[in-house]
Parts: sequence; C-alpha cells; structure tokens
Amino acid sequence: MSRTIIVSNRLPTKILRSDNSLTFQPSEGGLATGLGSIYQQEGNVWVGWPGLFVEDAAEEEYVCEQLRQDSMVPVFLTEAEIRDFYEGFSNSTLWPTFHYFTQYATYEQAHWEAYVAVNEKFCRAVLELAGPEDTIWVHDYQLLLLPALLRKARPEATIGFFLHIPFPSYELIRVLPWRTELLEGMLGADLLGFHTFGYMRHFLSAVAQLLGLSAQNGQIETGSRTVLVDAFPMGIDYERYVQAAASEAAQRHEAVYREALRDTRVILSIDRLDYSKGIAQRLRAFELLIQRYPEWREQVSLLMVVVPSRDQVAQYASLKEEIDELVGRINAQYRTIGWTPIHYFYRSFPLEELSSLYRLAEVALVTPMRDGMNLVAKEFVASKADQKGVLILSERAGAARELSDALIINPTDTGQLAEAMHDALVMPEDEQQLRMSAMQALVRQYNVFAWTKLFMDRLAYSKMKQHTLDTE
Ligand code: G6P
Repeated sequence: MSRTIIVSNRLPTKILRSDNSLTFQPSEGGLATGLGSIYQQEGNVWVGWPGLFVEDAAEEEYVCEQLRQDSMVPVFLTEAEIRDFYEGFSNSTLWPTFHYFTQYATYEQAHWEAYVAVNEKFCRAVLELAGPEDTIWVHDYQLLLLPALLRKARPEATIGFFLHIPFPSYELIRVLPWRTELLEGMLGADLLGFHTFGYMRHFLSAVAQLLGLSAQNGQIETGSRTVLVDAFPMGIDYERYVQAAASEAAQRHEAVYREALRDTRVILSIDRLDYSKGIAQRLRAFELLIQRYPEWREQVSLLMVVVPSRDQVAQYASLKEEIDELVGRINAQYRTIGWTPIHYFYRSFPLEELSSLYRLAEVALVTPMRDGMNLVAKEFVASKADQKGVLILSERAGAARELSDALIINPTDTGQLAEAMHDALVMPEDEQQLRMSAMQALVRQYNVFAWTKLFMDRLAYSKMKQHTLDTE
C-alpha cells in the first residue's frame, strides 16, 4: 500500500526533559497544529526532529518506540546542529530574509554547511523508510535542499514540497550567497506549493532571474523534468475548533476568566514570540487606543498570549525584553486598582483553554508584519459559534487574501490599528455577524482536509503527466 511520508524539521510532538523524566507535548506553530489532524490517516508517517537531545542509545530506542506508536519517526539532531542549522541558517538567515527583516539576517558559511549536512541527514532518514510507491511530502524553509537530494537518490520518486512562510521578492532572495543552491534544491520536487499567489509569483520571478528558467501555466521546465508550481492556502481542522469551543471544559474556563476579569471586554492576541508578528507595534497601538479614547479605560483589556519560541536566537531574546518592558510600562502608567490594561501570558495553552479565550474575546488582533498564512485568525473565526466578534487582520498575513471580511489594516500604521480597535468595539452586532458568517463559510469549506486533498491530487496529476510524457 502506498502512503504519504510527511517530512518537516519539527515533529508535531516535542519531548521535554525535566527531573530525569521525559514528557511528550504538542508542538507549537502553524505547521504542526495544521498538519496534526491529517498525518495519521491511512498509515502515513511523519519524519522530523522531536526537540530533544538524546543521552544514550537506550533513551534513543525508547523515544523511537514511543513515537512509532503515534506514526512518527525521529531524526535526532546534535547540539551543534541545532546551533548552526536551526538557530543559525534556518532562523538567522532564511527566516529573517523570507519575512523581509534582512537587517537581522546573518550570512555564515559554517551555518550553510550545517544546513547542507542536516538536509542530507533528513534525506538518509527518508530513504530508509520510503518505498517506491510512497509519496514524500517535504515541508518548510528548514528543508529547502531536501527535494533535490531525494530526487538524486530516487529519480522516479513522487515528491511534493510546501512552503509555510512567505516567499519574498527576488530583491531579497538575490542577497543570499547560496540563492542558486536553495532554488535548485526546491526544484527537485514534482509540485511546489505556496500559501498565496503572490508568494508563487515571487518564486517564479526568482527562478527566472537567477536560473534563467521561465514558467508557463505554472509549469517550470528544468531541462530534464517539469515542475508544477501553485498556490494552496492552508486551512485548519474546522470541526476540531468548533467542538473544542463548544466543550464543557472551554465553557468552564471561560466562566472562570469572565468572573476574574469582572466583565471587562477583551481584545485577544495570540502568537509565538517572533519579530515577524508585530507584537510590540500592537502594544503601542493599544496604548494609543486608551490615550485617544479614554472612555475605554477600565472597560477593555488586552489579553496577550506569547508562546515561547527560539529564545536562544539573539533577536528573539531581545524582543522578549522589549515586550516585558512595554507591558510593564503601559500597565504601570494606566492601571487602576480594579483594572489591568494588559494581561500578558508568556507560555502556551492547551486547546480547551485557548478555545475559552477565543470564546471570551470580542476582538482578535492578528497583526503580523509578515506571516505566511496565520492560522490563529482562522481558529478565532471557527470558535465563534454565535458569530459575534471582530477580527482585525494585517494586510501582510497570507490569511488576508481570503478573509476579506476582517478589518484589514497595515500593522506599521499604529494610528490605523488603534482606530480599527475602536471601530471593532463599537461595531453593531448584525454587522459582526454578517462578516463572521462569511468568514466561517470560507474557513469551513477550505479546511485542512480540503487543502491536503487539493495538494495531493495535484501532485498525483503532475506525476501522471510526467509519466505520460516519458512514455510518449
Ligand atoms: C512556523 C514555521 C514552522 C515552525 C514553527 C515553530 O510556523 O513555519 O516550520 O515549526 O513556526 O517554530 P520552531 O522553530 O519552534 O519549529
């Protein structure tokens, strides 16, 4: 039987070591939460890093066995690999470049070499597992070289690749010393998927200008093969969020929070710690709101969840300090005995508690500077059973291409963002419901299962076409 082998840097489960014991937890981020619902279907497996440095062979065996029961195969990375491949090339070169933060990008040959070596390590792990009938689906910027490495070893393999972050303009890509190798790495796939048409266009432009390969009807001819390129906006497991929001646990948590907040109205913000998310700008905009509209003081609070992420990378550590400082200053300046302007949580929440926050919030702020898609926006929409609530969404999140009934803002424009918060707080209920129901219809239909099917069908089609051409 053929199966799909999903490959990503991070597994959907991460393992933590505390007091000599190991705990297994769901991973954070859009990739893991989005794909988490589909990988266990039909004997599929997921290959990736479990977030743990194993201490000895016995522990390695134990971890392999535990993960195997959940259809996962670990690729273990060393501390040096995490430093140079993950914190280095992936998150200090590619991440800032692809999110238009080139001022944060570093260009280190040693990091590049580690990136090549780890992509080769993933290649060996996949080859050990994959049979000729299997489909290999590679995910995200940490593994851009993997499609070509796999192709070299298995010229006939069916290989898909999906990029979960933006693909930036050619002007940013051209800065990278290893730009050609990266593009050639991606072109090893049969099908390349992006969240939006805009990212796909940037990719085609980079391929044309750097490799001299042109595309017609979303097809690139490399000389020996045809590579299909297309946009597939990723969705969420809609029903899972509907059910979680309706669960007794979520309602219980909501009641507790409401009482503690004494019916203060809630604006919600949930992100991984990341400079691409616009968290500091959002805090300044909230401050501007309560300056411009003092009537909202003691009436509205910002409930801000920041999920710890990549804190070994310098830019993330200093962003954490900036946020701590801003929250402290704003709270100290405006708080009263009965009112806290910003409730700030620096940790992750289990699904039922997240759902209770989505239920509680009247307004959600999803205002990244750049974001491949942003699934939090879709989760908020799915959680609103009564269709009341307003989404404020950045024009530079992939989700804005679909969720046009949100209040769309430019996240750098603090004034516009403050006004959008005010507008959201005074929006009549019937307008809220109109906008929310339109967004729900879209998010329900283009859910993660529809997304997977579309990608897989297209991949099978590209393979079939290739096969027909070969036999003609
Ligand atoms: C984003 C990326 C994912 C990544 C996630 C969490 O969603 O697109 O590839 O897994 O962030 O980041 P981390 O560095 O913890 O894996």
